[in-house]
Amino acid sequence: MAFFSLLPLLGLLSILLLLHHPTTTAIRLHITQSPTTTVIPSFREAPAFRNGDTCTSNTRDNDNDNIIHIVMPLDANYIRGTMAAVLSILQHSTCPENVSFHFLSVHLDPEIISLIKSTFPYLNFKMYQFDPDRVRGKISKSIRQALDQPLNYARIYMSDILPKNVKRVIYLDSDIIVVDDIAKLWKVHLGGKVLAAPEYCHANFTNYFTDTFWSDVNLARTFEGRRPCYFNTGVMVVDIDAWRKGGFTQKVEEWMAIQKNKRIYHLGSLPPVLLVFAGDIKAVDHRWNQHGLGGDNLEGRCRGLHPGPISLLHWSGKGKPWLRLDSRRPCTVDYLWAPYDLYRSSRVALEE
Ligand SMILES: *[C@@H]1O[C@H](CO)[C@@H](O)[C@H](O)[C@H]1NC(C)=O
Ligand SMILES: *[C@@H]1O[C@H](CO)[C@@H](O)[C@H](O)[C@H]1NC(C)=O
Repeated sequence: MAFFSLLPLLGLLSILLLLHHPTTTAIRLHITQSPTTTVIPSFREAPAFRNGDTCTSNTRDNDNDNIIHIVMPLDANYIRGTMAAVLSILQHSTCPENVSFHFLSVHLDPEIISLIKSTFPYLNFKMYQFDPDRVRGKISKSIRQALDQPLNYARIYMSDILPKNVKRVIYLDSDIIVVDDIAKLWKVHLGGKVLAAPEYCHANFTNYFTDTFWSDVNLARTFEGRRPCYFNTGVMVVDIDAWRKGGFTQKVEEWMAIQKNKRIYHLGSLPPVLLVFAGDIKAVDHRWNQHGLGGDNLEGRCRGLHPGPISLLHWSGKGKPWLRLDSRRPCTVDYLWAPYDLYRSSRVALEE
């Protein structure tokens, strides 16, 4: 294995190697063609965030009351977002040592695990493998390729993946920044509901499903007796026990199977969850999901903030702040993400 510190230098390096070593042709081919070539980013070490004085008082000694369980997908392509999200959560927590992270990942890559450990030496976290075979053959093509990644569907399988002692979780996408104490979201009263999230009843719900769906009497009846509103599955508080008991994974899968036969929606993992839960969730203040900062799904145009207080910023949509900042064409909202960026540099690892 050899390491190079700068990606643009690679081409030059390989030419130089080639000039000095006639046998390195294979290496050069390796660089340009092999899928085992990975870019490994490096991050600055985050400070040690410690509990405040109020953290040890008055709660019972019960793991579930004291520990905030956060589930996030972990993918090499989004790791810069994940690191920033984790930092933002710890930095705004009154009791950061009481936050536990559960990362769902397709590959349990030791290099990624050690990257998290070196960036957050004090982090309380576990990695879980999400087997993409769980959703193989179940995913339908959406309007954006990134939405079709198996890992996007991992949130539907949390109840199977997480240990039984985890009763409640906050699920968060990796393109978010939290600017408030996450404990406030954790304490939401579900009131018998399985899921809590900000609801958007002004968004035209009709548009999330196709004419095929609405014109089919049996399908359209799905929302009978509910007032369905859009919610975003990138920020959810979920009663995992209730999800498990209610067999909601299977219910979402059933809609994915219908989507395979008739195209009833255009987006990825979101609509089947809406089909099961919309109109039957606990609404949370909008401040907990300022979504759409990545722009639309097709072009990722810049968008401004919605009015009102903010506890969580979400770059849902095509544009990601780290990519727009790197390309020197950032949107104004991306400057809110930048202070949480721990990224230092990348190197390319050549594995043989
Ligand atoms: C934080 O965790 C400690 C140790 O488990 C516990 O004693 C304390 O009550 C927790 N604090 C809060 C506010 O949950
Ligand atoms: C919602 O969108 C549908 C389809 O585009 C349209 O027919 C309907 O009038 C809209 N409803 C509202 C309340 O705007």
